[in-house]
Amino acid sequence: MGSSMEIGKRDMILILDFGGQYTHLIGRNVRENSVYSEIVPFDTSAAEIREMASFSGIKGIILSGGPDSVYEKDAPKLDPEILKLGIPILGLCYGHQLIAHMSKGEVRQAAKKEYGDTEAVIDKPERILYGLHHKEKVWMSHGDTVSSLPEEWEVLAHTDNTPVAAFGHRSLPIYGLQWHPEVVQTEHGTQIIKNFIFNECKCQRNWRITDFADSAMHEIRDAVKGGKAVVALSGGVDSSAAAALVTRAIGGHNLVAVYVDTGLMREGETEQIRSTFTKLGTDIRIIKAEERFLKALRGAEDPEQKRKIIGREFASVFEEQAAESGADFLIQGTIYPDRVESGKSGKSALIKTHHNVGGLPKDLKFKGVIEPLRDLYKDEVRKVAKELGLPESIVKRQPFPGPGLAVRVIGEITREKLDIVRHADYIVTEEIERSGIAESLWQYFAVLTNTRTTGVKGDGRAYGYLVSFRALVSREAMTAKFAELPWGLVRRISTRITNEIPGVVRVAYDVTDKPPATVEWE
Ligand code: XMP
Repeated sequence: MGSSMEIGKRDMILILDFGGQYTHLIGRNVRENSVYSEIVPFDTSAAEIREMASFSGIKGIILSGGPDSVYEKDAPKLDPEILKLGIPILGLCYGHQLIAHMSKGEVRQAAKKEYGDTEAVIDKPERILYGLHHKEKVWMSHGDTVSSLPEEWEVLAHTDNTPVAAFGHRSLPIYGLQWHPEVVQTEHGTQIIKNFIFNECKCQRNWRITDFADSAMHEIRDAVKGGKAVVALSGGVDSSAAAALVTRAIGGHNLVAVYVDTGLMREGETEQIRSTFTKLGTDIRIIKAEERFLKALRGAEDPEQKRKIIGREFASVFEEQAAESGADFLIQGTIYPDRVESGKSGKSALIKTHHNVGGLPKDLKFKGVIEPLRDLYKDEVRKVAKELGLPESIVKRQPFPGPGLAVRVIGEITREKLDIVRHADYIVTEEIERSGIAESLWQYFAVLTNTRTTGVKGDGRAYGYLVSFRALVSREAMTAKFAELPWGLVRRISTRITNEIPGVVRVAYDVTDKPPATVEWE
C-alpha cells in the first residue's frame, strides 16, 4: 500500500527532511491542525513534487532543520526549481539558512552559538508572524546565522546574535525562521505554523482520522480479496490496532494473530493480550519461546547486538508460525516514526535498530505485506484503536520497545535479572497509576543496571543491584523531560523495590531529559 494511495485529494503540507531531529514534530504539528503532512527526502526534485501535486493537494512546503552548514562540501542542497513552483515555502533553521544562501544572502558562522531559549524581537508582527508579541520566547539550536539579505527580502525578526532571525520575500510566499516553531519551548510556535498553513497555504482542515479507518479497511479488503492474513501481535497499541483494523476488514477467522512470549514481556502482558483478542474473535496463537530467546541471548552484552539477536529470533519463530498458518498476507504495525527512525526515509540517521521494521527476513513467502498504519503518528493510532473498540488498557498503553525488557536490563540477560526488572517495573507502574498522575506521563518504567552496590538489609551487610526508574513527560518521544514526581511517590517506589525484591539494595531516579539521553537505556 503506497502512502500516496491514502492521501487522496486532501490538502497536504510536504516536509523536506534535511536530517533535523525535530522533523517529525513539524509533521505532528501540521496534522494537529487537521491538515495532512508527509515527510520526504531533502533531495526530492521539483519535477517529483509537481508529479505528486497532480494526485495530492500539496499546498505548502516546509524545509526542516539539519545538522549541516550550507558551506560544507557535502551539505544537502535544495533543487532551486522548488523555489519557483509557486507553492508557499517555509524554511526552518538549516532550511532558513539554505533559502538565504540560495538567494544570495549572507550566511555566517555566528559569533556565538545559540542553543536553547532565546528572546526574539519581532520587527514585523505580520504574515507568518501575525499575532505575535514584540518580544517572543523562541527555541534556537544553530551555529550559522543569516546576516543580510538582498533587497527583495524583508527582515521580520532578529535576536541579539542573529540579525535576520526571520525573513519573508517581499512578493512571494517564501519564508525563513532561524528558530524552531515545532518544539513546545517556542511559546507561540503553533501560531506561526497555523499562520503558514492556513493564511499562506490556504489549507482546508480535511485530514480526519475517522476517514482514515474507513479507507484503510477498504484498501485491506481490496488487497486481501478473500485470502488470509497473519499478524505478529506485540501487545502494544500499534500491532493491536493493525490487527483490529484487519479483523474488521476481513473477519477474525481470516486473521491469524501470533503472539510470541519471548520471556521479555512485562507482568501480566501475555494474559491481557489473550483475553482481549479472544473477545474480538481473533484466532490468537500464543507461542512460548522464553527458552529459545534466553539461549540466543546468552553472552550478549552490547545493546545493538541484543536488539539484532532478538529481531532475528523473533523473525524465525514468526516465520515458522506464518508458514503453518497458510496466510497470503503479512500485517505489520509499523507506524510513521518507525520508518524514519530506522533510516528508511529522508535523511535522519539510524538511531536504534527498531526490530519491527528491520528484523523480518526479506524472503518471507507472502503475496504482500500490509502496513495499514504506516502513515500515522502514535496519537493518531490511539484514536483509531479507540474507534475500533479496543480496551483502554491497550489504547492508552505506554510504548514498549520491541526487544522488551532486554533493553531494560543492562548488560547480559539472565532469567534472574529479568525477574528483578519485571517485578520492579510492576511496582513502578502500580504506584504511579495509584497516584493518579499516570495520564500526564508518556512512559514510566524500571531499569536494572549492571551495577551492584553495598547496602544494609535486616541486620547485615548486603551486596545487591542498583535499580533505576524513569518517568517522562513527552508528546512523541522525539524529545522528553524527566517528570518532577512528588517525593512521597519516589520514596514509596524506592521502599517497595528494596523491600520486595531481595536482590536490590539501592534505587535511583533517572533525572535526564532526551536529549541528551534516549528514553530507553539501551
Ligand atoms: P528512545 O530510547 O529511542 O525511544 O529514545 C523512543 C521511543 O521508542 C521506543 N522504543 C522502541 N519501540 N521498538 C519499538 O517499537 C524498539 O526497538 C524501540 N526502542 C525504543 C521507546 O520506548 C520510546 O517510546
